[in-house]
Amino acid sequence: MSTPVGDNPILEHLATAVIVVDARDRITELNPAAESLLRISARQVTGVAIGEALPGLDGLAGALSRARSQGSSFTDREHRLALGGEWVTLDCSVTPLPDGGLVLELAQLDRHLRISREHQLIAQNQAIRELIRGLAHEIKNPLGGLRGAAQLLERELEDQRLREYTAVIIGEADRLRGLVDGLLGPSTRARRETVNLHEVLERVRHLASAEAPAAVRFRRDYDPSIPPLQGVRDQLLQALLNLVRNALQAVDGHGTITLRTRTQRRFTIGDVPHRLVARIDVIDDGPGIPPELIERIFYPMITSRPEGSGIGLPIAQNLVAQHGGLIECESEPGNTQFTVWLPLEDGE
Ligand SMILES: Nc1ncnc2c1ncn2[C@@H]1O[C@H](COP(=O)(O)OP(=O)(O)O)[C@@H](O)[C@H]1O
Ligand SMILES: [Mg+2]
Repeated sequence: MSTPVGDNPILEHLATAVIVVDARDRITELNPAAESLLRISARQVTGVAIGEALPGLDGLAGALSRARSQGSSFTDREHRLALGGEWVTLDCSVTPLPDGGLVLELAQLDRHLRISREHQLIAQNQAIRELIRGLAHEIKNPLGGLRGAAQLLERELEDQRLREYTAVIIGEADRLRGLVDGLLGPSTRARRETVNLHEVLERVRHLASAEAPAAVRFRRDYDPSIPPLQGVRDQLLQALLNLVRNALQAVDGHGTITLRTRTQRRFTIGDVPHRLVARIDVIDDGPGIPPELIERIFYPMITSRPEGSGIGLPIAQNLVAQHGGLIECESEPGNTQFTVWLPLEDGE
């Protein structure tokens, strides 16, 4: 039989999370790395069936029986699981033991995946901004000419019915101009002020509640210890409002929207390490982001809603980027989470 946890110095000091189960899938060992990864104590789960002790690992049941039936090692790559409200990605190798038991090795990938995905997001965001700046210039000049000409024409027209057409031209030119301005974001570098994130979130919640049907519930889970940050309040408000409005549209009349705040020490956004960052999660239990959209939702004009403009998220990403922050997103049916990272102090 295997030795109990604590008696095996190699397992004890291994950085890889290791779980050993017997022939009936009961946990016989779980090393400290697995305890900290899975946030459980070995003492609580030793002797308990793995499916019962770690329901989050449910998706691995297939890998376990596969390793047993094939009698050889089997690796389940990029297995996603929810641990205490957080998503982690694991590579899990399962190796059968002679006594019918199994050794599970869990390697967490998120750190690595997060960084490459984050670089991609930041590069994407920059490319989008440059494209918009170039396009905006090309659109706004002729648009101004078009609008001016329609105004002159309108003055010359006697027939009221014909004036309706010029009104359409002027109205549409204004709408386009508004769209382009919205995409460009605030033109002047707005003055930074001391911003209380919870005050901003409460304002957002207030505005969104006013638009929300009664069956939409707002849940708050704030970390009161978050210090104020230096930023532009109205920009942060706009960014968060865009996320909350999307959540509101996603739950479509009934559901729960959670606003959660946390701080994180020693966190790197892009390439800049920060001593302290704020993390704001906007979570909804709607149907989730369509899988074919998820890689592109921060691009302009990407929308799944007939009346959508597809600029809410790129604007939010842009505004947060101007604060040295980043928005990331995770989604599956019933659980969509947008995470806003904002540095609370300048980079180290
Ligand atoms: N919380 C969410 N749940 C599901 N889908 C979402 C959510 N947030 C954004 N999306 C998807 O991302 C798309 C783009 O959002 P956005 O940029 O705000 O544009 P718009 O709201 O005008 O469609 C939405 O059309 C929707 O498909
Ligand atoms: Mg939107």
